[in-house]
Amino acid sequence: MTVERTLVLVKPDGVQRGLVGDVIARLERRGLHLVGLKLLRIDEALAARHYAEHVGKPFYPGLVRFITSAPVVAMAWEGPGAVALVRSTMGTTNPATSAPGTIRGDLAVSIGTNVVHGSDSPERAAVEIDLFFGADELVAWESALAEWTVGG
Ligand code: RTP
Ligand code: MG
Repeated sequence: MTVERTLVLVKPDGVQRGLVGDVIARLERRGLHLVGLKLLRIDEALAARHYAEHVGKPFYPGLVRFITSAPVVAMAWEGPGAVALVRSTMGTTNPATSAPGTIRGDLAVSIGTNVVHGSDSPERAAVEIDLFFGADELVAWESALAEWTVGG
């Protein structure tokens, strides 16, 4: 399995509700490791670039209003198949149909306030990590646990 990096955001609702630690703990326990972490307030310009694929959709104005409304925590996570691992840990977009055991299935009620974002492909992950992090803000390191999570 190819080692990938992916962008995760704890959205404004997750930060306000004190769920940052829970999200990080779930991804750490899954076997991924953090290579970048920051708290920031997303402005309109960054929101437009991050959610470019949704411009023109009916929910887009509300999505931008929400994501710029309060601070988020941005993280880059690394591991084999990290993009898909994060997406399965997050659950589906609508919490109402997200499986119990997933972040959205355990912690969220509504599609507009679904706690986390995760990149949906390795290509988008590279673009999104670039949007949120400078190269000097990402730290490459080997997890000492890799032998037990990834295998020898
Ligand atoms: P995300 O990008 O935040 O990780 O979520 P996702 O891939 O699961 O869902 P996506 O289709 O990319 O949509 C981005 C966010 O827009 C909101 N949304 N609202 N009302 C609606 O029909 C609707 N559809 C999407 C959600 O908050 C979703 O996470
Ligand atoms: Mg998406």
